[in-house]
Amino acid sequence: MVKNMKTKILEAFEKVYGDASGAKVYFAPGRVNMIGEHTDYNGGHVFPCALTIGTYAAVKKRADRKLRFYSMNFTKVGVLESSLDDLSPSEEAGWTNYPKGVMWAFAGRGMKMDVGLDMVIYGNIPNGSGLSSSASLEVLTGFALRDQFGFDVSNVDLALIGQYSENNFNGMNCGIMDQFASAMGKKDHAIFLNTADLSYEYAPLVLDGAKIIVTNSKVKHSLVDSAYNNRRSECEKALAQLQTVVDIKGLGDLSEEAFEAHKDVIDDPVRQRRAKHAVYENQRTIQAVEALAKKDVDTFGQLMNASHVSLRDDYEVSCEEIDILVEEAWKIDGVVGSRITGGGFGGCTVSIVKDEAVDTFREKVGAAYRERVGKEAEFYVVEIGDGPYELV
Ligand code: GLA
Repeated sequence: MVKNMKTKILEAFEKVYGDASGAKVYFAPGRVNMIGEHTDYNGGHVFPCALTIGTYAAVKKRADRKLRFYSMNFTKVGVLESSLDDLSPSEEAGWTNYPKGVMWAFAGRGMKMDVGLDMVIYGNIPNGSGLSSSASLEVLTGFALRDQFGFDVSNVDLALIGQYSENNFNGMNCGIMDQFASAMGKKDHAIFLNTADLSYEYAPLVLDGAKIIVTNSKVKHSLVDSAYNNRRSECEKALAQLQTVVDIKGLGDLSEEAFEAHKDVIDDPVRQRRAKHAVYENQRTIQAVEALAKKDVDTFGQLMNASHVSLRDDYEVSCEEIDILVEEAWKIDGVVGSRITGGGFGGCTVSIVKDEAVDTFREKVGAAYRERVGKEAEFYVVEIGDGPYELV
């Protein structure tokens, strides 16, 4: 399958640019987060895993300073041209702002490309699904630059550079989770990452007698980025008020008890709820990983459900369609846990479903969604894959 993908992309490269000889093909994965949502910019824990779907690129150096980009997902857009002398964001650059942002971030760290590139991109992450297509494109670009120009960076650096470019070139103040999961993914494992210091452990995530299912609501509400940036600043304000009474660096440093003891210093009830989510979600993530280590998948599932309630009610990043998918999932025997995953306002849910209930899950959740929302939900059984690699 991977070989076919390589051939397919090289064929497109040849068609678009004329000559694919010497082009290399790379892949970087998308991610799904099991638990630990909106904790990564609060110095808390997350528990994502890399998927086997993601973004592919064929890349070839040029002799001049031109950059040419072509996406097999947006064929009508055609080839978008730019130059190493013009690494600034623009609306016309569309999706190429992601790879350009990464090139800009490398250059800002003293890693300057001496020649330009021709690139062909193909992604198989469903559009707008919240499974981190942009992070995978950033990590992919960084991985390709490292290989093509010999830049001395680790995979953690690729994640940090990707996040930096997304924050400062693309204006989305995301945390580190998505890029980290893409750059550091490991087959059949989730990553238990402490975003306060980037320490991490891999936890095996092959469930005995159960599957992880991602359900795509196929909705993405507008203004997602501004709502996200807004949540982030609400947390920062709540933290600043808490810091007047407790010595903490992030909301992730607080236990539930300490939060309850000090929460009244946050003078705004909305901000108080946002901070509550960040604190409790971080603790839930730690507990969930402990439960998984003891093979207590039921507790893991209950914590996923509690995570959803908190994201829906306190953090307010769910939406009607996603709540319907989750509520319908909760009704089914054999569903261990179900919640929204990713940034929110649409996208996907993640559920743990016992093997014998998988068919019923698809049928019942699918039918209810059709009836209540008027759309076809899509279901994917998650395969957990590795971080970026070259297709050889
Ligand atoms: C988006 C961001 C991540 C993280 C999640 C919410 O995916 O890119 O950094 O904050 O939302 O957990």
